[in-house]
Amino acid sequence: MAIIKAVRGTRDLLPPETELWNRVEATARSVFARYGFGEIRTPLFEATELFARGVGEETDIVSKEMYTWEDRGRAESDKGQSLTLRPENTAGVVRAYIEHHLADSGMLQKLFYIGPQFRRERPQRGRYRQFWQIGAEVLGPQFSGSDSALRDAEVLEMLATLLNELGIKGWRLALNSVGSTDDRQRYSAALREALQPVKHKMCEDNQRRAETNPLRVLDSKEPNDQEIIDALPKIGDFLGEDSRAHFEQVKAALDACGVPYTVDPRLVRGLDYYTRTTFEFTVPDGSGLGTQNALLGGGRYDGLSEMLGGPKAPGIGFAIGEDRLILTLLAQLEAKEPARLDAFVAPMGVAQNPAALKLAQELRAAGLRIEVGDGAFRLRKSFETADKLADKMIIVGEDEVNSGLFTVKTFSKGEQEKIPRAELAEALSFKKVSS
Ligand code: HAM
Repeated sequence: MAIIKAVRGTRDLLPPETELWNRVEATARSVFARYGFGEIRTPLFEATELFARGVGEETDIVSKEMYTWEDRGRAESDKGQSLTLRPENTAGVVRAYIEHHLADSGMLQKLFYIGPQFRRERPQRGRYRQFWQIGAEVLGPQFSGSDSALRDAEVLEMLATLLNELGIKGWRLALNSVGSTDDRQRYSAALREALQPVKHKMCEDNQRRAETNPLRVLDSKEPNDQEIIDALPKIGDFLGEDSRAHFEQVKAALDACGVPYTVDPRLVRGLDYYTRTTFEFTVPDGSGLGTQNALLGGGRYDGLSEMLGGPKAPGIGFAIGEDRLILTLLAQLEAKEPARLDAFVAPMGVAQNPAALKLAQELRAAGLRIEVGDGAFRLRKSFETADKLADKMIIVGEDEVNSGLFTVKTFSKGEQEKIPRAELAEALSFKKVSS
């Protein structure tokens, strides 16, 4: 019979790699807690309109990559509804902010999330159709300080701290300002004008975008259009006084905290909601990501809440591609031995199985990592299995159980010693520290 495989662009995460995923998530949670973030969990699917309005109709994400379906009503009276698996989580967080009136507290909301997102992209190394993001958003009414440049710098400094604590080497921060909503309107008009005489030479998508949303022409990867795109006006020349001052303040605060960055005037990012600060963190070639070297991206979205029918709520956030973070760590970590267990408990004969399981129960309760063999194993098989999993083997025979004195073999030293039951846990813990 044909075997059923995981769907293209999705994958199973298996041990021992999942241990690294858990470590990354635990580190992220601990860093986020130090900066005052709380966790938010939003649904994996939302009304399609949320992404159309929030992320933007002309973005690649909405126009090509969403998993959308018409959800039929169950009863005649139920209306059908267009639903979409979330391609990103910022729109969902802002929807929840509006829906639960989080603005009413008057306080800045600092929210983080860890979870899967879905985009129908061409799968390759570091690019999947179900992928994970670790993200955070800071938003609130203007009087809560949500549009302060200090927030931008704080988020960026937090990211630098997180990447350093995770041990990511050689990361680079690219920074830009895409201006306020007004600046962007002026810039869009200038782009439209500049594209008018040349757009007929461009691909079909870009010809359409030149009319509907000229900013998205800048995201295009179409090789034949790059020369035209390179010659287009730059956003930096359209920033108003306020946007310019805001960007200067972000940079000054980063300088004060010693966070290195480079300004990249072409960094506009492929989502419509961005205003003012935008950024991306990349890792050097050879860090396991191939061409997908953007580890994370984010920026400000001062108008998103209003685009979704909510109150004015400036905000800034980011999302880390967790799959890419893990690939980078795996490539950058020296080939480390997988973590070994503290001991292997080997019953000598099936009759000793219950006693072996009871001993394992005691040692695990003391916090040790233990595997139990099986009395049906021949001695040689017990030895071989124990040697693969741990440096120590505890022999559980009738004599040991009766006397309460257990034989412990240490493979690396070729030693064997007898240890009283009451001292076993401590002896194994101590050796854990000293070896
Ligand atoms: P984004 O740039 O679309 O931004 O995605 C953020 C990160 O998710 C990327 O830098 C990348 O590491 C990862 N990513 C994106 N697509 C894939 C994929 N197909 N496979 C693997 N990883 C992927 C956003 O999603 C915004 N919501 C970020 C944000 C939060 N902006 C403000 N707040």
